[in-house]
Order: sequence, then structure tokens, then C-alpha cells
Amino acid sequence: MPKKSRENGLWKAAKKARKFAHAPFSNFKVGAALETDDGEFIGGCNVENATYGLTICAERVAIFKAVSEGKQKFKRVCIVTDTDGPTSPCGACRQLLWEFCGNIEVLMGNRDGILVRTTMGELFPMPFDKKDL
Ligand code: THU
Repeated sequence: MPKKSRENGLWKAAKKARKFAHAPFSNFKVGAALETDDGEFIGGCNVENATYGLTICAERVAIFKAVSEGKQKFKRVCIVTDTDGPTSPCGACRQLLWEFCGNIEVLMGNRDGILVRTTMGELFPMPFDKKDL
């Protein structure tokens, strides 16, 4: 499959996951999707909690879903929100994305399509990871 249609499939998977976002406190719904090395798309949405602090972001839900299904090799991640500009992964998600995905491509989009293409290396320079232990 050409790269543009894989990107489009990943964006669609993130947009679809966003529909299930549980965000009654912030009303900020986020969808994320990971592309595995064998071309599967695994989506996640943010799941908020009344304690606020127990809220989990869409990116981490997607990672934990994938890992719990035995998938640990990823090519790309896409984050989708209903905003005019891109939504960048938070610091906690960057740590987790680095841990499980390394220097993968990161796409950020909205309802209209992909707005930003970058990499984890750009978003998360000088990470702390297993090489430091
Ligand atoms: N959120 C995500 O799910 N991913 C991001 O990249 C940014 C923030 C969620 C967490 C919370 O439910 C809401 O967006 C507002 O911060």
C-alpha cells in the first residue's frame, strides 16, 4: 500500500477511536492510532475520571491495547482532535511512546486530515530509557 494511503488509514482509525472518547470533564476528545509493523491499526481514546488525575490519554490507551494484544513493533502514530491546529502528545505519553515505539513517525491531525508530520526524536530529544539503567 502506498505511504499516503497508509497514513490516511491511520488517520481514519484515530478519528474513529476519538468517537469513543470519554471526556465529560474537559470535553476535549482525543483519538490516537498506532500502525504496527505488519500494517494493523490499533486505536485508543482518552478516558477521563472524576478524580482527574486518573485520566488516561488516547495515546497511552492505544499503546496499552496494542501491548496487551502482543503487538510491540510500531511504525507510526496518529493523534486526532477536533481543533483547528494540531494536538501534540503530552510529556507522559512521549515517555511511553519512546519506550515502546522509539523514533517512529508522529502524525497530528484534525477532522480534515493530517496537519503535522514529525518524529518522536524531534518531540522527545535526550530521553531517559533502558540504556540509562
Ligand atoms: N489528552 C489526550 O488524550 N492526548 C493528548 O495528546 C493531549 C491530552 C486528553 C487528556 C484529557 O482527557 C484531555 O485530553 C484534556 O487534557
